Amino acid sequence: MRAIQIPRLDGPEAAELVEIAEPDSDGVVIDVHAAGVAFPDALQTRGLYQHKAELPYIPGAEVAGVVRSAPQESGFGAGDRVAGLCMLTGGMAEVVTLPPDRVFALPDNVSFEAGAGILFNDLTVHCALRTRGRLTEGETVLVHGAAGGIGTSALRLAPAFGAARTIAVVSTEAKGDIARAAGATDVVLVDGFKDAVKELTGGRGVDIVLDPVGGDRFTDSLRSLAPAGRLLVVGFTGGEIPTVRVNRLLLNNVDTIGVGWGAWATTHPGYLAKQWTELAPLLASGAISAPAPVVFPFEQAGAAIASLENRTAVGKVVLKIR
Ligand SMILES: NC(=O)c1ccc[n+]([C@@H]2O[C@H](COP(=O)([O-])OP(=O)(O)OC[C@H]3O[C@@H](n4cnc5c(N)ncnc54)[C@H](OP(=O)(O)O)[C@@H]3O)[C@@H](O)[C@H]2O)c1
Repeated sequence: MRAIQIPRLDGPEAAELVEIAEPDSDGVVIDVHAAGVAFPDALQTRGLYQHKAELPYIPGAEVAGVVRSAPQESGFGAGDRVAGLCMLTGGMAEVVTLPPDRVFALPDNVSFEAGAGILFNDLTVHCALRTRGRLTEGETVLVHGAAGGIGTSALRLAPAFGAARTIAVVSTEAKGDIARAAGATDVVLVDGFKDAVKELTGGRGVDIVLDPVGGDRFTDSLRSLAPAGRLLVVGFTGGEIPTVRVNRLLLNNVDTIGVGWGAWATTHPGYLAKQWTELAPLLASGAISAPAPVVFPFEQAGAAIASLENRTAVGKVVLKIR
């Protein structure tokens, strides 16, 4: 089969299209049509992610495609349209084999390209807003990095989980258009976002900040929370891991909450299936729109991964495999 390989930790440009043996068939074997690209793919190409893959490795955390074969007891059969989670590596290949509990039936109205962009972000955002963030009906959610993969996912999902308003924080006007298309109620630029949020909310602040960026905006995020607000720590694309002066938590009765979706799924057996049981009907009914990804050809995997690293990516990025 053809697959993308990272042979050395020189960044996304090291990605090359190679011919290698197919994986063994001990699990659900999927003919991959599209593979998702996520920020950890970029970090891993430089050895900067917490998980260190052994070289050479195939990048890619998630796929969508058609089942070629599956164990009888798995509930899947040849021809089923599915999305699958590789979690960290292995997705950018023509064939992947996954354990049944990481394979999910794709609603008919979701294309393979969109399907390859759903699991990693939407399940993380579901974990963030529902499980860890305790989002309730009528609340306001501020989303940093709002034109990115996690950001657009948060904008698509938050209203379906009860949010009355979403405020998108972006670095450029063009990214603001992407955030609006993903459903943002309001869009503000990073520079001066705290004052803009104060004005938009009549001085009250927001109930939840979902933050995949971190860095120096963190303190202003805490200052933007309404009483009993929650700041959800999702990632650090800005590069720096911020520190919290805990007096700020006490002063305004706010929480800073870590969201480690992979770790939560590992320590809560059955969690992924439970999440999908909640999300799939919403996707099928159109209550949650499918992602509208930017699609790169298979052989341009390096450029696709680099677009996340160099901040030019908008929305979810996906590779078309076949
Ligand atoms: N906690 C979890 O369980 C979990 C699960 C999945 C992903 N994540 C993390 O979530 C984060 C976001 O992932 P993603 O796939 O959504 O990434 P993405 O599509 O690249 O979006 C990230 C956004 O971060 C912003 N950003 C600010 N400074 C940046 C910089 N120096 N370089 C690049 N982007 C910068 C950009 O928006 P602006 O230009 O508008 O600022 C960009 O749109 C990553 O850190 C990832 O590891 C965490």
